[in-house]
Amino acid sequence: MSLDAADFGDLEDVLKALGFAGDNGALNEDWLADPIAYLKTMLANDIEQERIDVAHYIKLSQLAEKEGYFSLKMKMEEQAADEDGHANELKRLLS
Ligand SMILES: [Fe+2]
Repeated sequence: MSLDAADFGDLEDVLKALGFAGDNGALNEDWLADPIAYLKTMLANDIEQERIDVAHYIKLSQLAEKEGYFSLKMKMEEQAADEDGHANELKRLLS
């Protein structure tokens, strides 16, 4: 008999969010082998994605400005700042 995320009841969604189990509910053997390394890699990947999002929102703000959509430019800058904040929070968790 093998365990599945559903076997953990109310914790199923948490286990999936942490990468302990995949979307199909199967337990992640990589996570079990070295949970610290797995979580650090997961956080580092999330930080990189947030940084990519910041760059994209900045590019969108520049395009909006070029086309004269100034309120859209400001919204894109705000979104870039939000994503930067997410990256910084993840970075704090990683340190
Ligand atoms: Fe984000």
